[in-house]
Amino acid sequence: MVRPARNVRGSVGLPGDKSISHRYALLAAIADGTSRLENFSTGADCASTLGCLRSLGVKWERQDGADNVIEMQGAGLSLTAPNQPLDCGNSGSTIRMLSGIVAGQRFVSEMAGDESLSRRPMERIILPLTSMGAQIASQNGRPPLRITGAGLKGIHYKMPVASAQVKTCLLFAGLLADGETRIEEPLRTRDHGEVALRAFGAHLERKGNEVWIRGGQRLQGIEARVPGDLSSAAFFLCAAALFSGSQLTLTNLLMNPTRARLLDILVQMGLRISVTQLEEIHGEVVGTLQVEGGQLKGATITGADTAALIDEIPVLAAIAPYTEQGIEVRDAKELRVKESDRISSIAANLRAMGAQVEELEDGLKIPGHQSLRGAELESFGDHRVAMAFSIAALRAHGETLIRGSECAAISYPGFFSALEGLVER
Ligand code: S3P
Repeated sequence: MVRPARNVRGSVGLPGDKSISHRYALLAAIADGTSRLENFSTGADCASTLGCLRSLGVKWERQDGADNVIEMQGAGLSLTAPNQPLDCGNSGSTIRMLSGIVAGQRFVSEMAGDESLSRRPMERIILPLTSMGAQIASQNGRPPLRITGAGLKGIHYKMPVASAQVKTCLLFAGLLADGETRIEEPLRTRDHGEVALRAFGAHLERKGNEVWIRGGQRLQGIEARVPGDLSSAAFFLCAAALFSGSQLTLTNLLMNPTRARLLDILVQMGLRISVTQLEEIHGEVVGTLQVEGGQLKGATITGADTAALIDEIPVLAAIAPYTEQGIEVRDAKELRVKESDRISSIAANLRAMGAQVEELEDGLKIPGHQSLRGAELESFGDHRVAMAFSIAALRAHGETLIRGSECAAISYPGFFSALEGLVER
């Protein structure tokens, strides 16, 4: 239940970035030596990755204490055959990126997940991994997957969909393959896969939208602190944007340029953001953000911006009615195959709050200058939808009930209490 707020004020440190946590865990598993990963994501998705790695014979433990430390013993490039299906839970990142690793192992792995994951498209990894030499059976291109690993051979692959998960999957497979694997992406997507591979000692090269890696390189375990998750911070940033008196400090936040487009868009919309204490840790840029709310203009999000903002669109759309000119999102068909069909989830919840919204095949048109009323909403089992509408609810008239809001724990278990700690009423 979310009650309207007057303001957002305070300071918050975010749990470790989900994208980076997955990649660090997967690479630590196939590295030589021990890795110590501080501020590892507390989300259920990254726990799915850790669980699968345990089933593949990788030894790790979570250390007690406040710092969410995972210590993992690398198994080298060869893992152990699992004696049960790998449970990927709700996590598209786990099934897609881990596929690249098990495809290069000399055993069979079955990978399955929950109902939402079982609806998500996997041809995007099946096709290229098959041409590298793996055999993959699926349910019409969807999970569960049965992957018969093999000695892979490198490929040159032009990705039809812009997806960092697919790019990372293929780079990981490329690391285990003979020869060179060269991947061309249609648009530049988040580069945490490349940055993490380098942090673990691999050499890879990039030119424009092409990246390539030579197989057979050995990785070395690392000690790292995972930067705060910018996609989780997005909810607090958008909450701050709703109130002209808001003041927020976000510490230890990921600022990787391939992820930080949200900050440019919010600044264009009227939020004042200043960045201090910028530093680079294992190739990832981290900083502290001071944020002040102002007036909230509208935005149009298309093309490369849509790809760069893909996880932040739910919350931007949820606050769109409160902006002056509204928000239009296009080229966002991928949103229809996320944890829920996010275009229809967002449209349904906005309408339930009394907003006018136009649902398009590839996006949404949401006029500005609207006032919303508190309502009973659905999370549609989608963590980002649940969190996005708790932000919209802060400026609505009356209380909002979000059913199934516990799914926020997929990426951010402490989200609602952290939000409650920041709002003033
Ligand atoms: C992710 C990439 C994006 C994003 C997901 C995490 C990643 O998915 O939506 O939450 O860590 O690479 P796609 O690769 O399907 O675009």
